[in-house]
Amino acid sequence: MKAQQTLLIAGSGFLSAAVARWFHRDGWRVQVLTRRPAAVERPAVPVSWDGRTRGDWETALREADVLINFCGQSVNCRYHAANRRAILESRVQPTRLLGEALADCPTPPRVWLNAASATIYRHAEDRGMSEAEGELGAGFSVDVCRAWEEEARRWRRAETRQVLLRTSMVLGHGANSVYPVLARLARLGLAGTMGHGSQFISWIHQEDFCRVVAFLVSGDLEGPVNVTAPEPVTNRFFMQALRTSLGRQLGLPATRWMLECGAVFLRTETELVLKSRRIIPRRLRNAGFTWRFSTAPSALEDLAKRQKCLCHLAADLGARGMRKHGSPGEYLAQNLSRSGLQTVR
Ligand SMILES: NC(=O)c1ccc[n+]([C@@H]2O[C@H](COP(=O)([O-])OP(=O)(O)OC[C@H]3O[C@@H](n4cnc5c(N)ncnc54)[C@H](OP(=O)(O)O)[C@@H]3O)[C@@H](O)[C@H]2O)c1
Repeated sequence: MKAQQTLLIAGSGFLSAAVARWFHRDGWRVQVLTRRPAAVERPAVPVSWDGRTRGDWETALREADVLINFCGQSVNCRYHAANRRAILESRVQPTRLLGEALADCPTPPRVWLNAASATIYRHAEDRGMSEAEGELGAGFSVDVCRAWEEEARRWRRAETRQVLLRTSMVLGHGANSVYPVLARLARLGLAGTMGHGSQFISWIHQEDFCRVVAFLVSGDLEGPVNVTAPEPVTNRFFMQALRTSLGRQLGLPATRWMLECGAVFLRTETELVLKSRRIIPRRLRNAGFTWRFSTAPSALEDLAKRQKCLCHLAADLGARGMRKHGSPGEYLAQNLSRSGLQTVR
């Protein structure tokens, strides 16, 4: 019988939790390198590290068949000097540490997926940015992406296939996902066109993100891969689709200066919504990957349905207690599938 494969994930955030659940259901043993063991969702096994120093955690690296590094402080903040430093260091330093440990590892994982970002491409309204034909941009966020990828590349080993996940905005229900924020804006009547509205949004549904990760683990692609749905859409189209999915007719548009004022108040940056990200996942498409949610309306409708379902089930659980239902997870999975939905694993 084939030995159970081990997946080692660095960082315990939104994408890490989604991927850990996905691989666990497929029979993998999942370990998570984290500075906060209590934050790791079981049954993944937390392994303590500080993201800066070598140590006992390297035993987990030696046992791993696959390594995925998702470390990086959130970019949803004001880009003042201290935050810029933290955004850069929280990506480059854990990548370097993993690279150094891998260089000394007698039995390195066969695959290393490292988080990266589709923000590496320039502001593009004129044409799509594929891996081969896309042009890299300039400025702080792009510099971070370049340094992050360069650090990962520096530590490549012949025995370990390395993939850089140039990921667009991932839409899901997890903590730190942007979707709950967008849904809240829509409920408040504030999900109108942002800026001039012709800037492109690239996005991917959380379930497709996990499917892409599994596809890349089992496939043979190497180097940068754009991880995004095949059809980027304009901000105007996306916000309209968001409102429709949530049954909201109206959404107040926000001009550039309104967004600038709001960003100061909300401690964020307008680049996150005004930069045009027109990303084309050419390598995934050419490798034969097929998306379950390839259009923005289909992804947003699914997320809205799940949200409704989760609200009903949470209320139901609260009202009837958990007596008959093994665990909240099982109860949600059973009821979601009865409603024609699959659990986002
Ligand atoms: N979510 C998206 O839409 C998206 C899109 C493109 C790219 N990405 C990239 O994918 C990665 C994961 O995204 P996410 O949404 O899952 O982010 P997240 O929820 O904020 O999780 C990131 C994790 O990184 C770890 N981390 C943060 N600062 C660190 C540091 N200084 N040293 C070591 N670890 C640190 C933390 O894990 P512990 O607290 O457990 O140590 C944290 O939970 C990030 O690098 C992000 O830039 C995300």
